[in-house]
Amino acid sequence: MSKEISLPLQFAPLLVAWQKQHGRHQLPWQNTRDPYRVWLSEIMLQQTQVATVLGYYQRFLERFPAVADLASASLDEVLALWAGLGYYSRARNLHACAQAVVRLPGGQFPRHSTELQLLPGIGRSTAAAIAAFCFGERVAILDGNVKRVLGRLLAFDGDLASSAQERQLWLHATALLPERDIERYTQGVMDLGATLCTARSPQCLLCPVNELCAGRSEPGRYPVKTRKLKRGQRENWWLWLEHQGRVLLQQRPATGVWAGLWSLPLYDDLATLKLAAKELDAELEVMPQIKHALTHFDWLLHTQRAEISQDPLLAPAGIWVAREQLADYALPAPLKKMIA
Ligand code: ADE
Repeated sequence: MSKEISLPLQFAPLLVAWQKQHGRHQLPWQNTRDPYRVWLSEIMLQQTQVATVLGYYQRFLERFPAVADLASASLDEVLALWAGLGYYSRARNLHACAQAVVRLPGGQFPRHSTELQLLPGIGRSTAAAIAAFCFGERVAILDGNVKRVLGRLLAFDGDLASSAQERQLWLHATALLPERDIERYTQGVMDLGATLCTARSPQCLLCPVNELCAGRSEPGRYPVKTRKLKRGQRENWWLWLEHQGRVLLQQRPATGVWAGLWSLPLYDDLATLKLAAKELDAELEVMPQIKHALTHFDWLLHTQRAEISQDPLLAPAGIWVAREQLADYALPAPLKKMIA
């Protein structure tokens, strides 16, 4: 059971004043109320650092200046532009969401968080961020960073692995909202989490709300989340088949890791790969192995390369892509790295 929590009323005004002076003001998705731009940035910023997002955000806007441009693009093109950002379900949802928006009467993003939340890929916190930034809706966000900030502020020791405890924290987050300045407050709580109230080295001495912070003496204790990710191990073998300067790519199935991306033929064990190579009379050459960390497991990827001279009719199904055109395809990050 979590203890009685008293909400510090000064939190919002102090945070708003701090944001004005010390927060971030020049990120490319700020200073706009265009929900397309804000939505695009919020999706990209889920589990991804600002520094990584900047280039992708700019390239997306150049290629797709408006939601209708994104909606009418092919999923393949969207995935290709997304390649390297990770968590590809975000890219598929992005595309589906753009298509859902243009089909709405008026073809615009809805103005309320409750309606935004009905769209693909937009959860409660993202819906709230868009509604607060673009339409001034007084509604709470609660992403991973904000859970940490509020968890510490309130010394909230409920286990966030429990949905009842998470609901409780949502209630607190809502009760802390200011009457006005929701845009600045929302940005402020994000900025605080990104700059001072960080996971590993919180800078409590510089924090504008340190005197209100119930978790200050032990920031490392919050937020509490017991369910630990048990990282699995996985090992697979890639076959790099080349024929007259072209490389064989196969599209990954629509679900699972790298869904929809273009990959080399992937095998569960070396024996099966060798069997496939034998069919082609191909001599195998071992390439450097790659270690790739995904959310739930560490992946060891081996690659064997074979140049085939005969007609590739016997090769596994797929498309043959000229080496210099590989970069135009939506490739998994480790494959991109290998090519580079
Ligand atoms: N992380 C999530 N949303 C953000 C935003 N709008 N600005 C900076 N970092 C963020």
